[in-house]
Amino acid sequence: MTYDFSGKVALVTGGASGIGEAVSKLLAASGAKVVVADLDESAAKATAAEIEKAGGTAAGFAVDVADAAQNEAMVAFAKETYGGLHLAVNNAGIGGAAALTGEYPIESWDKVIDINLNGVFYGMRYEIPAIEASGGGSIVNMASILGSVGIAMSPAYVAAKHGVVGLTKSAALEYGEKGVRINAIGPGFIETPLLTKHMDEETLKFIASKHAMNRLGQPEEIANLTAFLLSDEAGFITGSYHLADGGYVSQ
Ligand code: NAI
Repeated sequence: MTYDFSGKVALVTGGASGIGEAVSKLLAASGAKVVVADLDESAAKATAAEIEKAGGTAAGFAVDVADAAQNEAMVAFAKETYGGLHLAVNNAGIGGAAALTGEYPIESWDKVIDINLNGVFYGMRYEIPAIEASGGGSIVNMASILGSVGIAMSPAYVAAKHGVVGLTKSAALEYGEKGVRINAIGPGFIETPLLTKHMDEETLKFIASKHAMNRLGQPEEIANLTAFLLSDEAGFITGSYHLADGGYVSQ
């Protein structure tokens, strides 16, 4: 499926790697002007440069989504650079420590909640008024299958992703009549640096086996759903949480 985002300005947090990178590239290939926002400034600029080389329009921006003021600056950058904001993907996230709840490091809890949950709220806090002022648009928040089911050893991540799903539903109710559709996606395990940097071959194989399709997902498979939800083709879809999980949650 192809999309026409020409004339639209998009912002993707965590846009320089994995799922965010695939989303940035797909939106740009579909005509959007894209702000690639990431903690890793050089990677954000490199992704934007790749997009421009391929004939698209993009700019890199350094942001720590855990900082409210930096989210405000990110949205201001989109408006100053491209004249408005229509589409936003709050995707930046980290895994955090792996430990039992009764032993979980407090600093890892705080960091995961700051980035994975507060970061999504801070993003929407500034994106929503900008999207309204630009005549309406759509937001996708990247949750996880772990926004609907639990898993051992990741209490902060699971709590943050469940929070993202609830936040998405509440915000969608508030802005449904105001031209801003807001949805969440729950990817299964996707082959990105978030996983591959921290897990050996054996563990990845085991995780893949938990999906009905017995494989990991690819970032582009999540980018496709993201683009659909952002597009006018999804015009009656808001406040919902969409799995793209190779059957993980069906068990
Ligand atoms: P990734 O590690 O490949 O990319 C994440 C990007 O976010 C990186 O470029 C990183 O620099 C950036 N980032 C990290 N902290 C940041 C911060 N404080 N401010 C701004 N940018 C920051 O990860 P991946 O897999 O692409 O994950 C993207 C999203 O998808 C995350 O929210 C993750 O929780 C979610 N997800 C990933 C799954 C997976 O299996 N890979 C499964 C389900 C959800």
